[in-house]
Amino acid sequence: MGDLNGITRRLDYLKGLGVDAIWITPFYPSPQVDYGYDIANYTAIDPAYGTMADFDRLVSEAKKRNIRVLLDFVINHTSEQVSWFQESRSSRDNPKRDWYIWRDGKNGGPPNNWLSWFGGSAWTLDPKSNQYYYHYFYPEQPDLNWRNPEVKKAMFDVLRFWLDRGASGFRIDAVSRLYEDPNLHDDPILPGRNAYGDPNIEHKYTDNLPEVHDTLRELRALVDKYPGNPVLISEADEPNIAELTQMYGANLDEIQLPMDFQVADVNELSAPKFRKLLDEVEKNSAGGQPHYFFSNHDQPRQWDRYGDGKNNDQIAKLMAALLLMPRATPQMYYGEELGMRTTPPSRVEDVKDPIGKKGWPEEKGRDGERTPMQWDTSKNFGFSTAPKTWLWMPASASTYNVAVESKDPNSILNFYKRLIELRRSNPAIRDGNYVTLNPDDPNVLSFLRHVDGHTVLVALNMSSTQQKSSFKLDPKLDTKGTAKVLLASPGSRNGSLDLSTVTIPAFGVVIAEVQ
Ligand code: GLC
Repeated sequence: MGDLNGITRRLDYLKGLGVDAIWITPFYPSPQVDYGYDIANYTAIDPAYGTMADFDRLVSEAKKRNIRVLLDFVINHTSEQVSWFQESRSSRDNPKRDWYIWRDGKNGGPPNNWLSWFGGSAWTLDPKSNQYYYHYFYPEQPDLNWRNPEVKKAMFDVLRFWLDRGASGFRIDAVSRLYEDPNLHDDPILPGRNAYGDPNIEHKYTDNLPEVHDTLRELRALVDKYPGNPVLISEADEPNIAELTQMYGANLDEIQLPMDFQVADVNELSAPKFRKLLDEVEKNSAGGQPHYFFSNHDQPRQWDRYGDGKNNDQIAKLMAALLLMPRATPQMYYGEELGMRTTPPSRVEDVKDPIGKKGWPEEKGRDGERTPMQWDTSKNFGFSTAPKTWLWMPASASTYNVAVESKDPNSILNFYKRLIELRRSNPAIRDGNYVTLNPDDPNVLSFLRHVDGHTVLVALNMSSTQQKSSFKLDPKLDTKGTAKVLLASPGSRNGSLDLSTVTIPAFGVVIAEVQ
């Protein structure tokens, strides 16, 4: 399955790649109904992944390499097996009853029309006390009642526990769902049905309630008391820039890095769409730092999501430059640097993710993007010596792996490495601002990164044909109108560019220092 010692063993690889922080998805004891996102004990480690001593060693080895370890903080819901819920469900007058959201049914059914993100009603009847409890996700993941101060205290204690053990920050799971309308208004029904056969619904009374921000401010104040500037990252698929901006807090006192789901969900190579979204978040009124990602354990991998079936490797490099060259803090999913592809199960019997079992065949679940890391050409591509790995591995792993790609100067892996090196060493890319160029170009997304005396041009051709672009730079930059190529793909173009006509191949990347 992969475990903490496995990560420790590979820290040198991460260091070599240029990674400076890792986010580990939940490794706490869990019945694994939702692969660890159903936590049964918040301050322990599931033996399948290791021990507390293994965790401590991982943190200290990572520290030696200047790599921060960030944990997944799942605070909207627990496993039904956590002692808190066991107590809560034991009777209507248990002191922990109000730690979860219990309500009487209505007209012989659930209290209202709220639907679970994972299909079916968001309410489950507990026969023992004949009341319903609320769960945004699976019935095995009851939602905590964040209006109860004891819940808040318990969760803040969890956070302190891990900060004291050396965690450098948290990715906070499902954060926009912490609060629900206490009056239980029905959500508005939208046209059509989803993969589970439920009507589409607007989660108006369970998402992004204003109270979320009060809690985020308190969380931030708590982590700010710790040395080393711990970071909070939010998982919240904010629907527009206004709500994304709110995640930073009016005084930049909430989340440092809200994951930008709008950028992640563009799902097509569209220069105008990316340009608009990148510009919006660059100019966010809170002045917060943008935070981009394209793939993770919940989304099909970018290699096939953006690939056209013929030029996927080149498109993978284009997406790498889009992730790593703007000013935003980048977040990368393991294996993207190899061009790992999504490998969904081909038969329902093989599905592990419950949403795939429930939604098959329309929704095949998330197993396809969770297959093991591809290290080399040995058994199980170097991931494990076990007879079988927890999920299958694609045949393409025999060439798309760390060992093979390390030797190929044109590999996706080496392209990522060079981009990350540039991000570290080039002053404009490391510290510079972000300025859009050629705002009406339908094919090429181009921008400048600029800091005193250093200007870098990034041009990304999102079309399947060669493009010729002309770049007229602000006279204040006082340039000669030429640029020296730092990195380009396809090909390894060296030398000088005349900025009045730059030829960029199909799906090509040009990164050049303006002179
Ligand atoms: C987040 C996680 C996802 C999980 C869900 C419920 O969206 O990323 O994997 O299923 O929360 O915890």
